[in-house]
Amino acid sequence: MRKNIVAGNWKMNKTLQEGIALAKELDGALASEKQNCDVIICTPFIHLASVTPLVNPVKIGVGAENCADKESGAYTGEVSAAMVASTGAKYVILGHSERRAYYHETVEILDAKVKLALTHGLTPIFCIGEVLEEREANKQNEVVATQLASVFSLSKEDFSKIVLAYEPVWAIGTGKTASPAQAQEIHAFIRSLVAEKYGKEVADDCSILYGGSCKPSNAKELFANPDVDGGLIGGAALSVADFKGIIDAFN
Ligand code: 13P
Repeated sequence: MRKNIVAGNWKMNKTLQEGIALAKELDGALASEKQNCDVIICTPFIHLASVTPLVNPVKIGVGAENCADKESGAYTGEVSAAMVASTGAKYVILGHSERRAYYHETVEILDAKVKLALTHGLTPIFCIGEVLEEREANKQNEVVATQLASVFSLSKEDFSKIVLAYEPVWAIGTGKTASPAQAQEIHAFIRSLVAEKYGKEVADDCSILYGGSCKPSNAKELFANPDVDGGLIGGAALSVADFKGIIDAFN
C-alpha cells in the first residue's frame, strides 16, 4: 500500500534558532494527535543535526533539500549524502525545479545524486514538473515523461524506494494552484509511466505528491484525487498552523 505523505520544503528560510523553534512547535502540535499520513520536514543542511533529535521520529521524518553528486573529497562547499544520513535525516529532495533552473542540475548530476542518496539509505523525493510555457503549449506530459526517464535507470528495487513529487513550476510560490482535475490527470499519467516501466504493483505503491501553492484551503480537494498521495509544501510549511492544516486534510 502506498503512503500518504505531507512533506515540507523550507527552502532557504529560517535561521538555525528559528528552524529549531519551528520544528519543536510542529512536534508539539502533532504529539497528541493521530495522523493519517507521514509527515516530513526538509530543512537547510545546517539545521539537520539540530532538528533530527528534537522531533519524534515516529511522527516526523527529517530530510535535506539537496545533496552532492559526489561521494566525498575535494568539493568545497558541498554536502554529501553520507553526511546528510549521518545527522539522522532519512529523506532528500532531489531535482527540485529551483535546483534545475538556478544551479543547472542536469540529468547526469541528478542521476548521480539519486544513486548516492539510495546508497546511503536516504529516500529521494524526486521532483518533476513543467514551466508555464510548456503547460501553455500542452507539453506537460512530454516534459514530465522526459524528467521521469532520468530515474528509470534505477532497478525496480531502488525505484520502489523513491517518492515522486509533481510540481508545476508555474504553481510554485505563485499562489496559482493546479486544479484538482489538472493534478489528477497528470498524476495518473505519471503513474501510468511507472506502471509501463516497472509494472502495476510498483506503480500502485509509488507515492506521488503534488507541490505548488498547496495550502490548508485547497489541500483536501487536491488530496482527494486517487493519484494524489499528498503534498510537497513550500511557503505553507513555514507556519505550523498552515502546515498542520494541510496534514489535517487527511483526517
Ligand atoms: P510553494 O508551496 O511555496 O508554492 O512551494 C512549493 C515547492 O516548491 C515545494 O518544493
